[in-house]
Amino acid sequence: MTGRCRRAGRRHLAALVAAAALAVVPGAPQAEYGDVVLNKRSDQEGMRPVIFPHWFHRIRFRCAVCHFELGFKMRVGANDVLMSDIIDGKFCGMCHNGSIAWGPDRCDLCHSGLPGQKSRIVGGHGTKGPGRW
Ligand code: HEC
Ligand code: HEC
Ligand code: HEC
Repeated sequence: MTGRCRRAGRRHLAALVAAAALAVVPGAPQAEYGDVVLNKRSDQEGMRPVIFPHWFHRIRFRCAVCHFELGFKMRVGANDVLMSDIIDGKFCGMCHNGSIAWGPDRCDLCHSGLPGQKSRIVGGHGTKGPGRW
């Protein structure tokens, strides 16, 4: 009886260890830093890719503002952001509306990436900011 209990206990412990390992999502902490390249359509439509300085925004706003209220999924390339949505005040446009932050007419401040880049996140503390790459 005791033997079975101990074996069950060990199995339980193993399951706990496995669960703890899964809880550490690789790459997640670094995502707070760095710049996100958004280029689902920009290049195709003749605009430079968008460089979104994640860290710059993250130190000013809570995660939930963007990843819950604004509906930005927490995965690079997972969001279908259209320029018309931004002008309608969705996604980036909730703040980049000329009152909370400068407005959607400042094309080059967002479309600042070098052409031909894939959507991705580039890590590192701090942001390179618009126009640097
Ligand atoms: C101002 C808006 C904003 C804030 C605030 C913000 N994020 Fe993000 N986050 C984004 C956008 C935009 C993306 C890129 C989504 C895409 O490429 O479609 C992103 C991407 C991510 C990703 C995906 C990275 C990857 O490698 O796929 C993670 C993880 C993430 N954010 C975590 C966080 C956490 C944690 C916080 C708070 C500490 C936070 N974000 C705050 C807008 C924001
Ligand atoms: C929750 C509000 C909010 C959202 C959402 C948001 N921004 Fe911003 N953003 C700001 C504020 C505030 C500033 C600072 C404006 C200033 O300095 O006048 C800023 C500044 C910037 C800058 C300039 C950074 C620098 O180094 O000066 C870029 C580029 C930028 N945003 C791009 C984006 C893009 C692209 C999106 C959507 C993917 C987005 N932002 C979504 C609030 C927001
Ligand atoms: C606040 C940041 C921001 C500003 C300012 C901005 N854009 Fe965008 N734009 C985006 C984001 C984010 C996307 C989605 C990028 C992607 O996935 O390719 C986008 C996508 C686009 C696209 C792709 C096709 C479409 O309709 O979505 C075009 C074209 C475009 N923008 C043109 C412009 C022009 C022209 C201006 C200036 C009048 C401008 N943008 C200003 C953030 C911005």
